[in-house]
Amino acid sequence: MTRLSVNINKIALIRNSRGSNLPDLKQVSLDCERFGAQGITVHPRPDERHIRYDDIPILKKVVSTEFNIEGNPTEKFLSMVEKHQPHQVTLVPDAPGALTSDSGWDTITHLHKLRDIVQRMHHVGVRVSIFLNPELKMVEGAKEVGTDRIEFYTGDYAKSYKEDREKAISPFVEAALLANQVGLGINAGHDLNLENLNFFQHKIPNLLEVSIGHALVTDALYNGLQNTIKMYLHELQRPVDIYVA
Ligand code: PXP
Repeated sequence: MTRLSVNINKIALIRNSRGSNLPDLKQVSLDCERFGAQGITVHPRPDERHIRYDDIPILKKVVSTEFNIEGNPTEKFLSMVEKHQPHQVTLVPDAPGALTSDSGWDTITHLHKLRDIVQRMHHVGVRVSIFLNPELKMVEGAKEVGTDRIEFYTGDYAKSYKEDREKAISPFVEAALLANQVGLGINAGHDLNLENLNFFQHKIPNLLEVSIGHALVTDALYNGLQNTIKMYLHELQRPVDIYVA
C-alpha cells in the first residue's frame, strides 16, 4: 500500500497572506488525517514564506499519522529536526531562494556530507529520506550514504506524462528496481496529481509514500478537502488504467 502524505505548505501560504491564523494549520492537519491522509508533510523554507519554524512544535503535538519534515539541511534545519523528532526527515538540496524543489541530490559529490547528516538523524531516531532524480548512479550513491529511503523527484515525469507516459516512467522503474534490490525504501513527490498518480503508483514496485501538495490543494478548491483526499486515495488504490492514448 502506498501512503498519502498531504503537504500543507500551500495552506500555510494562504494563512500567511493575512497575518492571522486562518486557516489554522493544526485544524487542517487534523482534518486531513480524519479524511484519510496517512501523513502530513511540511517544508519550511529559509524565508518561512509558507511553513514557519514555530509551526513545527504545534504540528508535532497533533499529527498522529506520519509527520514528515522536508528541507535543505542547514544547521538551523537539522537542529530543529533533532529537537522535534518527526517520524521522517526528507533532505532536499534547495537553493535558499528556490521557488520549489526541482532536482535531487548528487549523492556522489555530497556523499560524506549526507552520510554525516544521516548518522546525526539516526542518532535521534528519525528516519531519513533523500530527494533524488531517477538515476542509477544516484541510487547507488544513496545506498552508500546510508539513507533509509529515497524520494523520487517526479516533476519530469509529470511534465512528460501526457506526451508519452511509458517513456516518462521508464527511468523511474529502472531506478526503483535498483532501490528495491539494495534495500532502499521509495517515496515520491512533485507535481503528482489526479491524472498521473495511478499510473505512477502501479509502475513503481513497492512505492511506500507519495507527498502531494500543490495539485491536491488546488483540487480542494473545487471539490472540498474531504472529497479531494478521498479521490487521491482512490487513485492510489484502484486498478491501473489500461487505456493508453
Ligand atoms: N517533495 C518535495 C521534496 C517538495 O519540495 C515538494 C514541494 O514542496 C513536494 C514533494 C510536493 O510537491 P507538489 O507540491 O508539487 O505536490
